[in-house]
Amino acid sequence: MVNLAKIKTIGIIGAGQMGSGIAQIAAQAGFQTLLFDVNKEGLQKAILGIEKSLSKLFEKGKIDEHPPVILGRIKKVIQLSDLVQADFVIEAVNENEELKKSIFIELDKIMPSHVILASNTSSLSVTRLASVTRRPELFIGMHFMNPVPLMSLVEIIRGHATSNETYNLTKELSAKMNKVSVCSQDYPGFIINRILMPMINEAFYTLMEGIASAEDIDTGMKLGTNQPMGPLTLADFIGLDTCYAIIKILHDGLGDNKYRPCPLLKKYVDAGYFGKKSGQGVYKY
Ligand code: CAA
Repeated sequence: MVNLAKIKTIGIIGAGQMGSGIAQIAAQAGFQTLLFDVNKEGLQKAILGIEKSLSKLFEKGKIDEHPPVILGRIKKVIQLSDLVQADFVIEAVNENEELKKSIFIELDKIMPSHVILASNTSSLSVTRLASVTRRPELFIGMHFMNPVPLMSLVEIIRGHATSNETYNLTKELSAKMNKVSVCSQDYPGFIINRILMPMINEAFYTLMEGIASAEDIDTGMKLGTNQPMGPLTLADFIGLDTCYAIIKILHDGLGDNKYRPCPLLKKYVDAGYFGKKSGQGVYKY
């Protein structure tokens, strides 16, 4: 089994918001980082975003190392096989089970048999993803929070077959990346979304039933329970389509009526109101 000292290079799959954030913190932690994406423009955009984020953190004195030095540790790659040099791989593509499975089938063939494969899934079964590989004991969930460079947490999810060694190494790696980790068993929503999404869903019911305005729901929860953002603002920030997909997974997986997706949330998604990323969600951006 590999120990933390032997991990020099981290491979990240997917250069979207989550993948680029994970690549950034891996490089900040001193790892050589291979950032893979099939989309060259997406990769370039990710690098620009990382550069901007690092400059901001440096200006604010939150990192000591000069941004170009950190950036110099990130290498863009466009072939999955280029990840073969990585000692640990974290997949962060869209929440599409078939896409993730096809990537893990390929990776399992490419990567040496001792390399741990992690998925940043926020809602899919880690056990099911692991089952397409020949190394389910070396497979684990590593769910980072958005925005990755600012949020202190990573939720580690143990699949049915994840070994203690894999878990311990992932926990050590998370600490090296400056994240506090919590451990969840593999059930729908894990810890964070199991608790967060019903709150967001309930905020939509509160709005739909005319109990309060969006602003009052958000101000109430923000100031009344000391949250950095109210639940409707947070939903816009996460993406209403993502919130809807996750609450549906809770409802399907756990069956209880308390997870029933709010029709107003569904209506926004049907209307193409995806939140901040589409310019319109509960609020206009
Ligand atoms: N890198 C560096 N700086 C960044 C950044 C990044 N990636 N993203 C934002 N910033 C900067 C902003 O530009 C801003 O800079 P200025 O002060 O110079 O303008 C600064 O960080 C913070 O700005 P704010 O004044 O808006 O922020 P804040 O102090 O409230 O912090 C926040 C922002 C950390 C996002 C905070 O609002 C927060 O914690 N919100 C809740 C986030 C949350 O709950 N995330 C988890 C979502 S759930 C999830 O991710 C799981 C899932 O599966 C759905």
